[in-house]
Amino acid sequence: MTRQNSIVPVALDDRSYDIHIGPGLIRNAGAHIRDAVGDRPLVVLTDSAVAELHLSPLLDSLRAAGSRVLDPIVVPSGEASKDMEKLGEVMDALLSRGIERKTVLVALGGGVVGDLGGFAAAIALRGIDFIQVPTTLLSQVDSSVGGKTGINSRHGKNLIGAFHQPRLVLADTDSLKTLPRREVLAGYAEVVKYGLIDRPDFFTWLEANGKALVDGDDALLMEAIRVSCAAKADIVGQDEKESGLRELLNLGHTFGHALEAEAGYGATLLHGESVAIGMVMAFDLSVRMGLCPAGDLARVRAHLSDVGLPISAAHLGGGTWTADKLAAHMAKDKKVKDGRVTFILARGIGKAFRCADVALEDVKEVLAASLAG
Ligand code: GLY
Repeated sequence: MTRQNSIVPVALDDRSYDIHIGPGLIRNAGAHIRDAVGDRPLVVLTDSAVAELHLSPLLDSLRAAGSRVLDPIVVPSGEASKDMEKLGEVMDALLSRGIERKTVLVALGGGVVGDLGGFAAAIALRGIDFIQVPTTLLSQVDSSVGGKTGINSRHGKNLIGAFHQPRLVLADTDSLKTLPRREVLAGYAEVVKYGLIDRPDFFTWLEANGKALVDGDDALLMEAIRVSCAAKADIVGQDEKESGLRELLNLGHTFGHALEAEAGYGATLLHGESVAIGMVMAFDLSVRMGLCPAGDLARVRAHLSDVGLPISAAHLGGGTWTADKLAAHMAKDKKVKDGRVTFILARGIGKAFRCADVALEDVKEVLAASLAG
């Protein structure tokens, strides 16, 4: 059976674009990209691991569609490439290739390549267009959509960047077949997030289908990516620059970033794993504050652990982590406003809201409970 691709529009006036989701999109990228940007010159940025799997089919397709394709730029795979030094190298590579304002950068890879490539595109010649071809579940449901681009600094993650919307997103579900299961699960945490924010029926659907989905059922995966992208597009369409509503997308992230900062941004704890634990903590905090039924926290914990995601911080840090240390990381979060941390809490599944009025003692209790398992 041939499956149709889904198309999810992101409505942002003259910066609107489509997200295509489905199999074979890398192999057929040339035609989609020509439809979106015409016959403008293209330059692909990717990483060494993704290049081995997907660069040749992409380049073949771009050339077959008649586009002029500059030499690709390949950075080492891994979070370390999202830094100022690598950004400098990418900028130099772009300028050495003689890019013009009409050149379009095609970012092929996961969140690192998408964020780095998007930011390079935002500042090259004061801004060139770019296209996202995300190859991980996490980047297909989150980072490739919505125009957040940037790099890390020694002061923290994603602290240098720009809002720069892509012209097109091609989420090829075939690329997920080569992803390690741990990476699929980490991306799945962000899928669950959309159900918990404002789509309770989607969360119920995930409870029924999540296990088969992370085991690689194509049709379920495609549907989950479609709903996730539609949920994100809806929020980004209303609040592109995160002046309010978009903060809901940070559910689980304030706690999660504290865990990641303590773990040191590496393989010990993947971003999606920290989000899974962080979402449990956000629901736990909501229950402790008397805002959310305990039964909803139990459902969140049960579903995440059912599919194989971590739900507490007990296994992290070898007993050296404390609630105080983690709380100190939260105070440095870039979402801090006037010295207050805005938490995303929930009145139940699908009922997330922003709250800047949270007692530090409650936060520390939640952290201590998570560290205790
Ligand atoms: N990943 C959260 C956002 O794009 O706003």
